[in-house]
Amino acid sequence: MTVPSFTSAILDEYDRNPSQQERFEKIRTLVCPGSQEASARLAAETADLIRWRQESGEKVILGLATGSTPVPFYRELIRIHQEDGLSFHNVITFNLDEYYGLPRDHPESYYRFMHDQLFDHVDIPEDQIHIPDGTIPMEEVYDYCLGYEESIREAGGLDLQILGIGRTGHIGFNEPGSSADSITRMITLDRMTRQDAAADFMGVANVPRSAITMGVGTILEARRIVLMAWGSNKAEIVQEAVEGLMTDQISASFLQSHKNAVFLIDEAASTRLTRFRYPWLVGPVNWDAAMKRRAVVWLSKKLEKPILKLVDEDYNESGAGELLASTSEAAYEVNIDSFNRVQHTITGWPGGKPGADDTNRPERAIPFPKKVLIFSPEPADAFIGMGGTIERLKEQGHDVQIYFLTSGNLRVADVAALNFARVILEMAESLQAEGWENQVAYAQSILDALEEKGEFGVDPELVRKLKGLILRGETRDAASVCGLDADRISFLDLPFYEEGRYRRFQRSEKDTALIREVLADQCPDIIFATGDAGDPSSPQAICFAALAEAYQGLSDAEWQSGCNVWLHRGRDHAYEAQEIDMAVPMSPDQVDEKSNAIRKFLSTSDDTGEPERNREIAGEYDSLGLAEYEAIEAFQIWKG
Ligand code: F6R
Repeated sequence: MTVPSFTSAILDEYDRNPSQQERFEKIRTLVCPGSQEASARLAAETADLIRWRQESGEKVILGLATGSTPVPFYRELIRIHQEDGLSFHNVITFNLDEYYGLPRDHPESYYRFMHDQLFDHVDIPEDQIHIPDGTIPMEEVYDYCLGYEESIREAGGLDLQILGIGRTGHIGFNEPGSSADSITRMITLDRMTRQDAAADFMGVANVPRSAITMGVGTILEARRIVLMAWGSNKAEIVQEAVEGLMTDQISASFLQSHKNAVFLIDEAASTRLTRFRYPWLVGPVNWDAAMKRRAVVWLSKKLEKPILKLVDEDYNESGAGELLASTSEAAYEVNIDSFNRVQHTITGWPGGKPGADDTNRPERAIPFPKKVLIFSPEPADAFIGMGGTIERLKEQGHDVQIYFLTSGNLRVADVAALNFARVILEMAESLQAEGWENQVAYAQSILDALEEKGEFGVDPELVRKLKGLILRGETRDAASVCGLDADRISFLDLPFYEEGRYRRFQRSEKDTALIREVLADQCPDIIFATGDAGDPSSPQAICFAALAEAYQGLSDAEWQSGCNVWLHRGRDHAYEAQEIDMAVPMSPDQVDEKSNAIRKFLSTSDDTGEPERNREIAGEYDSLGLAEYEAIEAFQIWKG
């Protein structure tokens, strides 16, 4: 029996244009506008498969993944179960992996995750659920893994395997080095994988070092495979897996050898595919100014030659000859035009330069001063993405206000709360202070709560509140490094964050309403935001979705016709030179100041690589032949 074919409308379209994709893509790749739509499609297809098997009284065997990626897919399956009555009584599941050493009731175990996200909400019998056991004694792991393989075979093999992809290219936990015929086994987790799980575990040191995972060979035996990927942070690895060589350094690339594998990705994860990044290499394009600039920047980087030194032959020999032919311009003219366009993105006046001709500047000269609103999803985000720009905006006389959308308390390490409580107790003791009963009781309740929840437990509200306050203090310090006083910053503590935890947040109208209120009250001339291309389950992406909804809900407001929304990529994949609309240069001193601001977040162990990434962008501009700056903060205009 075969699995019904994937959403036919898209496949039809795909098959009608084979030359577009097949030239570079070695795996069928379907791009949806967003993760919601893609997940709903996959859930509808999975539901069809389950029902179809039910009609003939047969079971369906699903291979399941954990992590952020499949969360919207599971939510949609639950909805279909609840609203359309889909039963899971004939479903047998095998999960890909489990952290080694975590008991089932650990909040980050994949056993817990799967029950929270799916199994507890549908009617699947518990004995049809299989998740590797992370508590097997080491000496029994080998036999246990062989047994897991055997159970999959006995069940009839996997009908449909759902996958996510890690930034190392892993599927399951098949880290670089996993061979195509590997089977279920114990594996050591890659450093990058552990880093990516750090927020869930309150710090990288707490992330387990090993895991039990199905092998690449186990996965490849599935009759159908769908790999999902969302957000700009996955764009690079998706491109390598789909277009690169098949290699054991990227286990997802082995899906190239599977006849029935599909990548289902959102737009943000697709941007590195050749058809979107260098469309002129796969077919005819409309050579408008933006496309020309992209091609010229690409050529300059590829040949490692400054833009103004490119000659006709460079274009012809690199597959961009059509650009010259289509415009009947010589390389020199195209070079100058594109060079100027890149040059005009550079400005030391991110709020616009009063009194100056602004024809070729990213921001308008008037009004001046401008009402600037900066929305920071977690407290450190604004400083990571635009610490230098904040300082400039302030210095240049604008009315700057930062709104910290979430408290960020989930990032604060226990030790920060612990130390705070201990200081109170020691103070009370050393001062032998009378009247400190309440403080002592409070400090003691913090210590008790921390002890009770253990290293990985969920913080009770009392502890989260304290952690949020600790972070507020650090945020004020960081803001003051950038020249902003306490009255220039506000904390919204959006409810989705306070009520949730990483990978399990759920946005609601309450979040949007709070932002809408701010916008309606402040009537900004400029907004700075981030998260538009983030992993949809991240606080950054959720905050952006709430902001976008609030902003669009006010589209009739007069102020909006004169408001620019600038995006930055704090925690997400950095912009490339051809994608940047505004580049704000930083001097070495400004870079130091920015580092100082980020370092104020002592209670969190954030390492986003800033300001190194700002230095890299400056290096990119330099190699295109533009001025050499120490660092650059990059922005893109939001097109709504
Ligand atoms: C999880 C798994 C992993 C994840 C991958 C992506 O069971 O096997 O391969 O799919 O690490 O994780 P997220 O979805 O959190 O980005």
